[in-house]
Amino acid sequence: MNILLLGSGGREHALAWKLIQSPLCTRLFIAPGNAGTMQCGTNIDLSPTDFEGIKKLCTKEKIGMVVVGPEEPLVRGIVDYFAADAALRKISVVGPSARGARLEGSKAFSKKFMERYKIPTASYREFDVTNYADGIAYLQQHRLPIVLKADGLAAGKGVVICQSHVEAVAEFELMLQGHKFGEAGSKVVVEEFLKGIELSVFVLTDGQHFVILPEAKDYKRIGEGDTGLNTGGMGAVSPVPFADEAFMQKITERVIVPTVEGLKKENIDYKGFIFAGIIKVGEDPFVIEYNCRLGDPETEVVMPRLKNDLVALFQSMAAGRLNEVRIEKDDRIACTVMAVSGGYPGSYEKGLPITGVEGPGASNTPERPGGADSLIFHAGTKWQKEGIVTSGGRVLCVTSFAETVYEAVDKSRDVLEKIHFEGIYYRRDIGYEFL
Ligand code: AMP
Ligand code: GLY
Repeated sequence: MNILLLGSGGREHALAWKLIQSPLCTRLFIAPGNAGTMQCGTNIDLSPTDFEGIKKLCTKEKIGMVVVGPEEPLVRGIVDYFAADAALRKISVVGPSARGARLEGSKAFSKKFMERYKIPTASYREFDVTNYADGIAYLQQHRLPIVLKADGLAAGKGVVICQSHVEAVAEFELMLQGHKFGEAGSKVVVEEFLKGIELSVFVLTDGQHFVILPEAKDYKRIGEGDTGLNTGGMGAVSPVPFADEAFMQKITERVIVPTVEGLKKENIDYKGFIFAGIIKVGEDPFVIEYNCRLGDPETEVVMPRLKNDLVALFQSMAAGRLNEVRIEKDDRIACTVMAVSGGYPGSYEKGLPITGVEGPGASNTPERPGGADSLIFHAGTKWQKEGIVTSGGRVLCVTSFAETVYEAVDKSRDVLEKIHFEGIYYRRDIGYEFL
């Protein structure tokens, strides 16, 4: 079968790397992809939200399956677009319908959904211009810190944690009156701050049944020791030591089962990933957010640990037979360390030459180019005639396997030391709390 993968990050390179290991995958196309995905298939210069262009490509290349990496095409209804088109209907798309993608696309929707199905989450209130004054009054008596969330998609920047009431009121005003996040901030969720340790849980559902993939922990802050600005993610570890069987059982019973049952009850067509962002408060799991896709950089440790054939897994999902699937995991520890552009998450330069990584045609096997037990996944990279250059904030990451977190991170660092671009920066302490 020919497969089309949408997206261009490290998540997509890891998915591409995994998809082509399946004997069920004949040809892989990636739109738009990066310099790393060129090692796995054919990059097509096409935006993941250009549905017309995607339709043409699917027809021309006889695509049988579309795997959607990022959330935006899902929130914009790519699944519904395929379902409504006679020529596209038989192609299976990995991802939920637009109604299902609201779990990520609208914080207000996801909070109400959790309320309806008694899924543990932070207490909250929702405001817009019509109850603006109530919002200000609510903020002023709220316990600190206060979490403000823009309702819609805001490129990972829509959550602000305020340490004072003055800051919270100012931020609230910026979102609702200053249109800081545009339409995405026309509704604001104000919620209680939960203190605990975070965990990313990945579920694949066919709408009736589900399987749980390896869990991971993401490191969001730019600085070592979890300091400084928030980023898309600077590294990840899987498995997560505190996510033992008992805790995962609580997550399954209190979060995953009611989520899948809730989707079913509301007749929401959901064949795809559910990413539950969990925070462990004491011994109990709370949902911080849902995403309708896999995490980045979590995927760069989840895919290497997943032993199942990914295409076969997606076929079982499409057929509604995930109840027949058993997830097999590599027991070793996988860590990924992300190298970013100097200045990220602020402004940074693009187009800087990268040395120490191989170009298209190189195979990302455990033997090369990362060295034994290591894999290089590209994120913001681009192939130009002269070589590979940077094209984003998060440039590439190195995933390594080992028996301990310490060794795995050490191996990734060894590989990163041989890679260079001007301004390269990476955290040396990924997994620090588990050493
Ligand atoms: P998001 O952009 O939705 O991934 O949220 C960014 C980060 O904000 C999360 O990963 C958490 O670290 C933090 N966060 C969101 N909601 C809460 C909350 N209610 N309590 C504490 N931290 C939160
Ligand atoms: N790494 C977190 C995310 O993908 O949202």
